[in-house]
Amino acid sequence: RHPGWPARLGPLRVPAGVVEVRAPKLFDATAWSRVRRRDRLHLESWEPTVPGNWNDNNATLAWPGQWSTLRGLGRRGMSLPFVILVDGEFAGQVTVGNVVRGALCSAWIGYWVGTHATAGGVATAAVALVVDHCFGAAGLHRLEATVRPENQPSLRVLGKLGFREEGVFRRYLDVAGGWRDHVCFALTTEDVPNGLVAGLVAGGRAELV
Ligand code: ACO
Repeated sequence: RHPGWPARLGPLRVPAGVVEVRAPKLFDATAWSRVRRRDRLHLESWEPTVPGNWNDNNATLAWPGQWSTLRGLGRRGMSLPFVILVDGEFAGQVTVGNVVRGALCSAWIGYWVGTHATAGGVATAAVALVVDHCFGAAGLHRLEATVRPENQPSLRVLGKLGFREEGVFRRYLDVAGGWRDHVCFALTTEDVPNGLVAGLVAGGRAELV
């Protein structure tokens, strides 16, 4: 077992509903596939390019392989993969990846939310829960989020959470079929001594349930 995973975090109430995050389960297959297939246009411009066809990659039958990979990485302490629930229903994912320990104690964080649950504070709440957990139980010191400069909703999520803009990574990641520039944002534990969730609650963006 590695520190911090699996875990169940929340609940936190935001305008869209009650947000929780937990480890992915095999039975998420149907909901995951339904949302991902429906939301191809919403997701594809922002996600790393994957070989193959969208509907096949996001079929119910594709989930067991993904789930097992995520679970293996989680168990080995290389990743902290979570799914987001809103009012108990599957709404998206938050993944902490490339966990490096030792003198770095750092990782990246990425997220997506299905269109049925967007614009109601869900990603902001889910990322806040996961960041606090990473800086607490999981023992990390730094988290990095890289975003395409065109991705206004994601830039807003990081802005609301107080992520610091650190620079532009040129032609950084293969997204939607090309090497795309990304803006790098980061937080270290020193930036958020009281935690992100406390900040959201104090700012009236979320309520503890
Ligand atoms: N321009 C400016 N702001 C916008 C726009 C826009 N076109 N659209 C939405 N917003 C704002 C919303 O109003 C909201 O801000 P507010 O609370 O001040 O009103 C904010 O963006 C979104 O905040 P949340 O509601 O917390 O986020 P949401 O649950 O809607 O999820 C997300 C945002 C995850 C980016 C979602 O849109 C999504 O899944 N997009 C596709 C995948 C993606 O881009 N993932 C992020 C990749 S980058 C990374 O992972 C580090």
